[in-house]
This record gives sequence, structure tokens and C-alpha cells, in this order.
Amino acid sequence: MTVRRRHLITGAGSGIGAAVASALAERGDDLWLLARTAERAGDLARDFPRAHVMVADLADPETLASALVELPDSLDSVLHIAGVVELGPVAGLDLADVRAQLDVNLVAPMLLTKACLPALRAARGLTLVVNSSAGLTANAHWSAYAASKFGVRAFADALRSEEQANGVRVTTVYPSRTATAMQEKVHEQEGAPYDADRWIDPRTAARTILHVLDLPEDATIPEVTIRPAPRQG
Ligand SMILES: NC(=O)c1ccc[n+]([C@@H]2O[C@H](COP(=O)([O-])OP(=O)(O)OC[C@H]3O[C@@H](n4cnc5c(N)ncnc54)[C@H](OP(=O)(O)O)[C@@H]3O)[C@@H](O)[C@H]2O)c1
Repeated sequence: MTVRRRHLITGAGSGIGAAVASALAERGDDLWLLARTAERAGDLARDFPRAHVMVADLADPETLASALVELPDSLDSVLHIAGVVELGPVAGLDLADVRAQLDVNLVAPMLLTKACLPALRAARGLTLVVNSSAGLTANAHWSAYAASKFGVRAFADALRSEEQANGVRVTTVYPSRTATAMQEKVHEQEGAPYDADRWIDPRTAARTILHVLDLPEDATIPEVTIRPAPRQG
């Protein structure tokens, strides 16, 4: 009998999260998808008709608990893929933008993981956080985003130590520039022309995530970095 694995995914409506959700849905796994708004939930329900779709705005993490009433008893993975970015110098920091990046990229994954821990422990599952190369090096104009990603890296490290005894694996993925809506926005904010072909295909990032997810029980990959391959010319 084929065992259908169960995954909770944030950010499944776009970019890397959509590529991961599509790959898992195609092979018949069961998906719990968290959408930002009711409208986005409708899009996800259309694109993933077998999925359980929940609505929670990760920029308002206090609403998470009420959104998570339909959680299954066991989850093979919780994939934190949703994220937001706003570039700009520290001299021009906007409080709402700082808070949004910290809430979506750091606070929400922490609280969502807490809520899912019983189900993850039951399956000896995987928590995977899509971080960023900005979670390893903070460059000019990336202060708030990098702070959120450095923070969620620390969270994942502490969680990995705590949950080892419960058999829960924790992986941080650090992609560099990937051809998604977020990267188009980054180029706009940098005032640079956007050429998707220069950057990682989101399906390649998804393949890396599935590789981590599908490891047999004898091994785990705590951290993985993905870079665009060198191009000629
Ligand atoms: N693209 C890159 O170059 C790159 C590089 C390194 C790391 N990353 C990381 O990769 C992850 C995926 O990014 P992506 O490039 O695939 O971006 P994307 O195409 O912009 O997708 C972001 C996803 O996050 C969701 N999201 C944003 N705010 C949310 C909120 N308040 N509540 C719930 N969901 C929310 C979006 O939902 P809506 O569509 O409803 O807004 C969307 O599904 C992010 O964590 C990002 O930081 C990206």
C-alpha cells in the first residue's frame, strides 16, 4: 500500500512554494496549504483541488492559532516558504515594513512550528525553513530582511537541538537569487533590469527541498545553500 505523506506549506501560491506544492501534489501527497487571504485561498483550492486550504495572514501572527483548527494528527513536514522583502537604507526605515518582514519571515514560522510540533513529533517529521543568502551575509539596503533571516536561522538552530530527542529533523535552505515575483520586485527596488534566465529556476529550488524531504531515516541535511550556476558571457 502506498503511504501518502502529509505536508503543511506556507507560500504555496507563488514562486518556490508553488513549485514545491505542485511537485508534492503531482505525486499524490496530502497538502495543508496556508493562504494569506480568502481570495488567495480560492486560487489555491482551484490549483490544488485535493488540498486542505487554511487562511492566515502571517503578517498578523496572532491570528495563526484560530486558522490552524484543521491540523492533522501527524505531519511529515512543515515547509516554511512564505516570505516578504522590502529593500532600503537604515536611514529610511519604515516601521510597518520592518514589522511585516519580521512577522512573516521570523515570528510566524516560530509560532506555526510551535502549533505543529505535536503533529511533527507524531510523524518524526521535518521542519524546513526557506531562508536566504541574506540570512548568512547582510548587505547594504537589506537590513530588515537580513535581520529576519538571521533570526529565523537562529530559531531553526535552537529547534534542531531541542527536537533531536523527539526525532524531528530541522533544515534551513539558503537560496540565492531565484526567478520569482519576489526577485522581480528586488530588481525593481534596485533599479536593475530583470532577466529571469540569470537566476535559479524555482523548480530547481523545489527539487532541492524534495531531496531533503525524501532522505531515508538514517540521515538529515541540516543546512543547504543553493547558488545560480556560473553562466558564460
Ligand atoms: N526569490 C528569491 O530570489 C529568493 C532568494 C532567497 C530566498 N528567498 C525566500 O524564498 C521564499 C519564497 O520566496 P519566493 O521567491 O518564492 O517569493 P514569492 O514568489 O513572492 O512568494 C512568496 C509567497 O509568500 C506568501 N506570503 C507573503 N506574505 C504573506 C503573508 N503575510 N501571509 C501569508 N503568506 C504570505 C505569498 O502569498 P501571496 O501570493 O498571497 O502574497 C507567496 O505565496 C521566501 O521566504 C524568500 O524570502 C527567495
